[in-house]
Amino acid sequence: MKFAVMTGGGDGPGMNAFIRAVVRAAKNLKSTTSVWGVIDGWKGLIENDFKIITPKDTRGMAKVGGSFLGTLRVPELATDVDLQRTIAVNLHDNLIDYLFIMGGNGSLKAANTINEIIKKEGLSTKILCTAGSIDNDVANKYGYSIGFYSAIEKSLEMLEWIRDTASAHRRVYIVRSMGRDSGHLPYFAGVASGAEYAIMPNEDVDFEKLATMIDERDRDSRIIVSEGYEKTEEEVRKVLEDIFNKRHISHEIRTVDMSYFQRGGTAAAKDILLSSWLAYKMVVDAYNKCESQFYNAFNIAQEPTRLPLYDAIKDENNEMGISEELIKFAQAMK
Ligand code: F6P
Repeated sequence: MKFAVMTGGGDGPGMNAFIRAVVRAAKNLKSTTSVWGVIDGWKGLIENDFKIITPKDTRGMAKVGGSFLGTLRVPELATDVDLQRTIAVNLHDNLIDYLFIMGGNGSLKAANTINEIIKKEGLSTKILCTAGSIDNDVANKYGYSIGFYSAIEKSLEMLEWIRDTASAHRRVYIVRSMGRDSGHLPYFAGVASGAEYAIMPNEDVDFEKLATMIDERDRDSRIIVSEGYEKTEEEVRKVLEDIFNKRHISHEIRTVDMSYFQRGGTAAAKDILLSSWLAYKMVVDAYNKCESQFYNAFNIAQEPTRLPLYDAIKDENNEMGISEELIKFAQAMK
């Protein structure tokens, strides 16, 4: 058989572990299978840029961040039917039996569209996808996106470093977090590090109350601002500063952006194990001649949820809000 493996969308820790696991499971379960790495994600599929990869090429890669195959965004793919068809035809012409993808919600949508073209035109490749995104916004009803836990760990460490200075100088830090329209990363990083507050993407923030909360702290405060929130960290700083001036309170407020540092670096054990487990299950299913589908799970050893690609992209699978219970939980951690 002939497999291809690619990463799509924003890179994240655990993507290399996924590539490694696909190659190793494929070769260990059937040595005659060849595995082709797609260079630079969707761009590589458009340009027919593949290279053969062996288990040896993946030595030491499990923990390494980023994607050694590359993962370039191709925004036009969402609407450009010619590009979508080019990919479907290239996969078929290269005799790829199964394409294994780890990517974010944009990649999953593209995979679904290309799969529909493949079926309509009677082409041969099947597509197996799983979620790789620090945002945890891909079918998160069924499991965690790979990279999410690693990004929380990075954020936790950075928030601890910021606390040192905030406390030593009695400062307030407004900290920007990635996570796009999902508040999961800023929220859970905030809870893990005991930050004073995390502003969610669609939140109607009561700044007067927030200012009082900060004022009641004796030494330091860290307020996390989600990337998807309407104000930048600078704008949040300005609003709070105006309130403090009006109340004749002096608090030094600084801003800092964690964004790209959250996405890079070594993978957490949970992300390595979960992405390897999902890759293994995908390879086993491919050898059993499964149809195109999406995989997710919360934990290693849990039987993954398998969904048709068009079911996996439904919005109802990405309940990105933070539930009442999680809010109570965070308050109980204060
Ligand atoms: O999807 C992952 C992510 O890191 C988001 O949190 C963020 O909005 C986006 O990617 C940034 O992407 P880029 O690398 O294109 O700036």
